[in-house]
Amino acid sequence: MKTTASYLRVTGFMILAFILLEIIVESGESWAIVQYPIIWAILAMVLFFAIALEIIAAALHRILFAGLSAEAKANYIATETLRDQNRFAWFKRKYKAMLGAKPIANEQEIVLDHNYDGIRELDNNLPPWWTWLFYISIVFAVVYFVYYEVFDGPSQLDEYEMELAQAKQDIEEFKKNNKDLIDVNTVELLTEPSDLAAGEAVFVANCVACHKASGGGGIGPNLTDDYWILGGGIKNIFNTISEGGRAGKGMVAWKTDLKPNEMAQVASYVLTLHGTNPVDPKEPEGDIWMDENAPVDNVDVKIIDSTSIKIEMSNDAKIESIVSGN
Ligand code: HEC
Repeated sequence: MKTTASYLRVTGFMILAFILLEIIVESGESWAIVQYPIIWAILAMVLFFAIALEIIAAALHRILFAGLSAEAKANYIATETLRDQNRFAWFKRKYKAMLGAKPIANEQEIVLDHNYDGIRELDNNLPPWWTWLFYISIVFAVVYFVYYEVFDGPSQLDEYEMELAQAKQDIEEFKKNNKDLIDVNTVELLTEPSDLAAGEAVFVANCVACHKASGGGGIGPNLTDDYWILGGGIKNIFNTISEGGRAGKGMVAWKTDLKPNEMAQVASYVLTLHGTNPVDPKEPEGDIWMDENAPVDNVDVKIIDSTSIKIEMSNDAKIESIVSGN
């Protein structure tokens, strides 16, 4: 029996089979059906069985029907038609009620008494679906007003800031749990005592032979002064430790021996040695390093003569430089 219902059943069955297969078969990012073409064959078989089932059910139905007496047949047809008519009755009733239109038979009750070239107007009620939307929007407006205006609910800006703060917190959390994802671009100065202690342990185990336990320097340069050969600041130091110094100078790349997290810890520890003035330090090598991203609180420009000016920038360390005008 080729009825709409049987088509719908087969289609629904196929969709169900497809979804089930996609859920059950582990296929990572891509579709299971793309990764395993055999699924096409399985689906074809399912389709075949679904159609076979429909045909068998329809045949059974026909045989049983043919076996009925004439009276029973009439009875059966009558109940079936009644059932068809009552199908979705609740929805049909609700739909009609929501439209709120007068039945066509009663329209003369609401026709208005004007007539323009044969066009007449009905005075229908507003459809209930529309009025309900209207009432709901009024209730919503009251709730909205009270929540946001009377009780100062969070504005869009507040919500944005809350989300931002939450995201920052999540990132911190993520970083804490994934310390080995650090690289030279993301490394930050660690200040937790546990990290610095771990950094000290790495330093003692690997670095003191050349840099001395105090960081004062021996084979390697002094790590406590303001002078850096390869650049100061957490990023440069991390990079030096990870990639090594200039070729042939003795500072190897530690990235094969140390984890990124350990390099960040020892780099942070090295920075705690800054300014400790150890006994018998190695003489300065390299240049004074300035963090170009450091905040400058105050810039003072003095004109010395027509070709040169003097710029004074001040923050923690006072830095002066002369810029020549030609
Ligand atoms: C075999 C000796 C040796 C060992 C071990 C060693 N270094 Fe070095 N280190 C050097 C030398 C030599 C340099 C100078 C490199 C250059 O001039 O390019 C240097 C440079 C550095 C610098 C850059 C200094 C600057 O002025 O720019 C840092 C930071 C540093 N080392 C940290 C470490 C850390 C941390 C360890 C342990 C994980 C370590 N070093 C182990 C010899 C060593």
